[in-house]
Amino acid sequence: MLRVKAGILVLVLCFAQNMISQTKVSFEPSDSDPLISKHIYGHFAEHLGRCIYDGFYVGEDSSIPNTNGVRNDIIEALKALKIPNLRWPGGCFADTYHWKDGVGPKEDRPTMVNKWWGGVVEDNSFGTHDFLNLCEVLGTEPYLAANVGSSTVQEFTEYTQYVTREVGVPMSDYRAENGRKEPWKVTFWGVGNEMWGCGGNMRPEHYADIYRQYATFMTDWTNSDGMFRIASGANVADYHWTEVLMRDIPKSLIEGVALHSYSFVEWDKKGSSTKFDESQYFSTMQTALKMEELVDKHAAIMDKYDPENEIALVVDEWGGWYEVEEGTNPGFLYQQNTMRDAMIAGITLNIFNNRADRVKMANLAQTVNVLQAVILTDGDKMLLTPTYHVLKMYNVHQDATLIPVKFESPSYEFNGETLPAISISASKDQQGKKHLSLVNIDSKKSNEVELDVEALGFKKVSGTILKSGKLQDHNTFDSPNQITPQEFGDFKLKKGKLTVTLPPFSVVVLEGE
Ligand code: AHR
Repeated sequence: MLRVKAGILVLVLCFAQNMISQTKVSFEPSDSDPLISKHIYGHFAEHLGRCIYDGFYVGEDSSIPNTNGVRNDIIEALKALKIPNLRWPGGCFADTYHWKDGVGPKEDRPTMVNKWWGGVVEDNSFGTHDFLNLCEVLGTEPYLAANVGSSTVQEFTEYTQYVTREVGVPMSDYRAENGRKEPWKVTFWGVGNEMWGCGGNMRPEHYADIYRQYATFMTDWTNSDGMFRIASGANVADYHWTEVLMRDIPKSLIEGVALHSYSFVEWDKKGSSTKFDESQYFSTMQTALKMEELVDKHAAIMDKYDPENEIALVVDEWGGWYEVEEGTNPGFLYQQNTMRDAMIAGITLNIFNNRADRVKMANLAQTVNVLQAVILTDGDKMLLTPTYHVLKMYNVHQDATLIPVKFESPSYEFNGETLPAISISASKDQQGKKHLSLVNIDSKKSNEVELDVEALGFKKVSGTILKSGKLQDHNTFDSPNQITPQEFGDFKLKKGKLTVTLPPFSVVVLEGE
């Protein structure tokens, strides 16, 4: 009898431990809420591994259906994603790239060594025209990261003229000779990349001076070209870097300061992208959630020098970074993409949305076949990763007005450590529809949230969910649709309260009207 009672007690305790706790969430809209810039949902395509060559670009003569050499299936997928901007050609590659090698007849273009990424030889068949024309096809804004580390002010100045000037000056006439009469619309310009590392191992004081010089010659006295000049930003928590740039670069010369931060298990022991245990998952979530502190602290420095909030924080590299897939070139950074990556995407984008006052642009690294890719290819096959689906679910927030959210997250506990299990952001779009994106990173526990939607005037709600049986689940070329968003109905709307049950490691987007 005693044994039976003890058994019942254990059962009750276990149940209590796994019991769904309820989190109360309130919304506090006001007239001063910022717009969530669509550019937070930007992408990044570097000449790295199989991102450009054998990724986007298969060449005009490929048997894979293409438009000017770019795969049609990738074009369609990215159009559906509504990517607002695309950063190119690097990354570290940018500071080795000489744009003139990539224009003119393809057969005359010189080859080059991709020194950072596998030392492979590239034939420059994908150059500025190919990239900017692709952006037009995609309906996305180009973000050109230009060479500062191994170029000259003259080369950079000529590049801006080649791309943006009406015919009638030497560089734009050269462009016309190469087949493009009209200038392209390029607003976003990166002035070098990771200047503290592969961009030249500079000190911030030195880079600030170099930046001033390049930014001066890119445009005219008053930047009447309307260029959005982005200074190469800090590595993760290098707050000194941001401080020096903000202090030493006159506001008339700068529109954005970048920041790079990746999520990983341990930088020197990254582990497999698909074969990971809970401890590795937990560490990855720790680094991903760190983004909030990074944004807050870099933004606080920016507030000091730019209280008018005129300079954007541009997180132009973020995402998960693991070991490459077995048997692939270590310099190509090709990795699979699981539900862990879906969690990184969901929580990171919620962090950016919630800091939309300062974060006006961001770029997931990278679009195709590299790091936390949204698309993977293998020959003529292509698949959309869980990360793709999260970005698509979240694109409802693009250019919508942020609705501030208040709640105390329950904890996700592992091995005596805790993390906030739930992340939420909300917005109101131009048609008045409200969207809430909710993530539960807990690997085992469902979490119930009670959202006070009275202030949002919800009469009806619909939802979409991304979830799967195991954290390690991913789409494969043989089973490309194992993880896709599903209709979600596990909620109840009653008297201004919306109660939602979030399964373990799931991403939910709700629409309310
Ligand atoms: O995204 C891969 C690399 O990571 C980029 O080239 C570089 O900027 C960063 O270190």
